[in-house]
Amino acid sequence: MFKVPPISAERLPGLLRSMPKAELHIHIEGSLEPELIFALAQRNELTLPYASVEALRSAYAFSNLQSFLDIYYAGASVLLHEQDFYDMARAYLGRAARDNVLHAEIFFDPQTHTARGVAMDTVINGLHRACEDARTELGISATLILCFLRHLSEESAFETLEQAQPLLDKIVGVGLDSSELGHPPEKFARIFARCRELGLRLVAHAGEEGPPAYIWSALDVLKVERIDHGVQAVHDAALMQRLAQDRIALTVCPLSNQKLCVFPNLADHNLGKLLDAGLAATVNSDDPAYFGGYINENFTQVFAATGLTAKHAYQLAFNSFEASFAGNADKRVWEHKLKETFERCVEHDY
Ligand code: HPA
Ligand code: ZN
Repeated sequence: MFKVPPISAERLPGLLRSMPKAELHIHIEGSLEPELIFALAQRNELTLPYASVEALRSAYAFSNLQSFLDIYYAGASVLLHEQDFYDMARAYLGRAARDNVLHAEIFFDPQTHTARGVAMDTVINGLHRACEDARTELGISATLILCFLRHLSEESAFETLEQAQPLLDKIVGVGLDSSELGHPPEKFARIFARCRELGLRLVAHAGEEGPPAYIWSALDVLKVERIDHGVQAVHDAALMQRLAQDRIALTVCPLSNQKLCVFPNLADHNLGKLLDAGLAATVNSDDPAYFGGYINENFTQVFAATGLTAKHAYQLAFNSFEASFAGNADKRVWEHKLKETFERCVEHDY
């Protein structure tokens, strides 16, 4: 393991921004900035229930996950055509590249769109073309993860998988998101088993607002390879041990947790506790247009609020590459670049 050199507190924010990283928990619909929502509404001749970009932005005050989801699904309703999905994803990837994201695994919620009459291939082809163009134009690697909405039925999830079947070469895996409480992972046991047979990689949101029991069933019933959020694991010592032992990554989203009141303050966030217990935690932005910042903002704010160190920074970035669904050759290249950034930081002031 790389021995992280000592790095002064003043240099830490710069290092956090410049270090290469992967983003593994980003809902592409949550990257829709109010400006783009208004531009797409105008292009598609839709009327929004907000007078201005500022009025929409000022509605972004949330008390829990559901209060956010209501406004998040409303925002996504401006997406109608393949070019809309392309523009949204291309904008995110441009922004991520500026934060030194080398690889992104992007969630999308097809049921939000198919329920409004948008075809599955409109959604997936638009997002996929943006990933391809970003690779050639920005050198960033990006793949797609289809998320099932857990507040909807198992039947709706199976219908969604059937619609996506001809396009499966354009997605790397499936996930589970939306309202957690009252919708435990086991509700989706059969659809996840089917996706596993199809060779898709598996992740699920669990332990954001829900109890440790939901993390256990995501692991043991759904057989997921990563847990999205997972911060409630600290309330179950046996679960902490399991997550550490099996190197199950947690895709933690500090600003999301703050904005949705999962922790009273960012200073109370348990990211350091998770890392110090040997868990493979990562830092991600979740829904950056709604929660006040992209991935680098998540890093700099949670480090400033909780006093994490350069060693934690290295571990988080390393974990993000290790936990990704990319190939081993790519992982080694990215991890080498990470090491070089830390070495350069010691040699030069920046
Ligand atoms: N949790 C659950 N569902 C979501 C989230 C989240 O943080 N963001 C977008 N959909
Ligand atoms: Zn999420």
